[in-house]
Amino acid sequence: MKRRTVVRGLTAAAAAPAAGLTAAAAARAAAPPSRGPASPAADSLVFDPKAYTELTTTIEDTEGMAHEVVYRFTKVASYVAKPVDPAYQSLNVSVPVRIDGKAVDAGRAPILLANQIGGYMPSSVAAAIGINASGVGGGTSRQGLALAAGYVVVEPGARGRTLVDSSGTYYGTAPAVIVDLKAAVRYLKFNKGRVPGDVDRIVSAGVSAGGAVSALLGASGDSPLYRPYLEALGAAPGSDAIHATGTWCPITDLEHADMAYEWCWGTNPLRDGSLVDRAVSRELATSYGDYLASLHLKATGVGPLTARTMDTYLLKTFMEPSATKHLASLSDADRTAYLAAHPFLTWSHGRAAFTWVDFLNHVGPRKKNAPAFDDFAMTSPETNLFGTGTTKARHFTLYSLRHANGDSARLAPDLPAKLRLMNPMPHLAGAGNGHRSRHWWIRLGTKDTDTSHTVAGNLAARLTALGDDVNAACYWDAGHGADEDPADFIRWIAAVADRRR
Ligand code: DHB
Repeated sequence: MKRRTVVRGLTAAAAAPAAGLTAAAAARAAAPPSRGPASPAADSLVFDPKAYTELTTTIEDTEGMAHEVVYRFTKVASYVAKPVDPAYQSLNVSVPVRIDGKAVDAGRAPILLANQIGGYMPSSVAAAIGINASGVGGGTSRQGLALAAGYVVVEPGARGRTLVDSSGTYYGTAPAVIVDLKAAVRYLKFNKGRVPGDVDRIVSAGVSAGGAVSALLGASGDSPLYRPYLEALGAAPGSDAIHATGTWCPITDLEHADMAYEWCWGTNPLRDGSLVDRAVSRELATSYGDYLASLHLKATGVGPLTARTMDTYLLKTFMEPSATKHLASLSDADRTAYLAAHPFLTWSHGRAAFTWVDFLNHVGPRKKNAPAFDDFAMTSPETNLFGTGTTKARHFTLYSLRHANGDSARLAPDLPAKLRLMNPMPHLAGAGNGHRSRHWWIRLGTKDTDTSHTVAGNLAARLTALGDDVNAACYWDAGHGADEDPADFIRWIAAVADRRR
């Protein structure tokens, strides 16, 4: 696919952040002249609707049709008044004005807040000179499709776990990433009327770690728990609640993810064919039952979700419907061939059926050893995510901590609160956070072994029980990071943007 980007005009303010200014200087340059006694810090949070560069790009839709899109591109040097590192705490706004030669008015369009976070790593948009229209592995990105559909697209950067300053201090570990995304949302809402698009119709999207923080952003809207962190950054005052949430293969509920992983993939071999430590796997899998019971989840047709019923829930809600959809999409000849090659799968009256054990066999090797997240050697992304100060990585579960330090070891005193700040599930407990997003798009591949299928399954079950609008599905035989219905998500944004709540 060919894509071309033409710079039509460049305003001084839009060019400033890329020109090597400090963020604070660039923010001042981008801000209108200050009026009255307002502080310079507050001024830097004012979006200047005139500070854009007009760009033209060709975007290929999911049908392979090319669209010429003229859009206004604005770089916001920092979405907070007191950035720790503006290279990450900045965002880009893209507003379509002409699509295939036709003028469009995106003034009230939904806003797609598309994070590009992966691996809980730092994510920067500071060097970008246009929207990132390329998707992972070729094709058009989600934000490219959204722009061509006439939506406003905001691409935020955020701090990540590996950032370390000259004194050796880690400054992007938990909860930096979610605090940054919340600050970005606050910035947009603070600029209601100045930022194009409907700031009451922000739809967040992200994949994997980015899917996790997207889900967390949706679940934790306006939670007071983040307030001190937002204040320290000089975040805009106001709301950080969003309207809708898209989350692909979220790597979340981290403090329970090792247990969940062994419940799900405990009997699957590693890639070299060996099994993980049986005692470790069994202990973790057993503990998962207690955690699951504590969630008090239910699902229609299954009843209470327990370690015994979870397989049926996942099979009936996700795996079988996904195989059914896949098989229904095949030609008769291809379906016959697939069924012949996969005899574990029965096809009757247009429905696929199989057992959980056969499904696990079909998935094959698991990606991670045990424990999958809080690994004993502390080399996982997550042990780094929960590092602090000059400590790069820490154990964040009692299981792995006690494996290392003995049965009387206690989690570091700051960790319980930080774990809570990183997990959407506590925000959905009880009656659920009243300012959460009410519309949810949840997707993952059936062959994704980066985390347990229960993670997305529990999220979907909890949100459904709360009465939210949940559109959750798996992609059959797809791996980590898959997105097989991007056009459907774009249509879904339009549909949920019309809903009152
Ligand atoms: C991602 C994948 C992982 O397996 C993980 O543990 C954390 C993040 C990711 O792709 O973002």
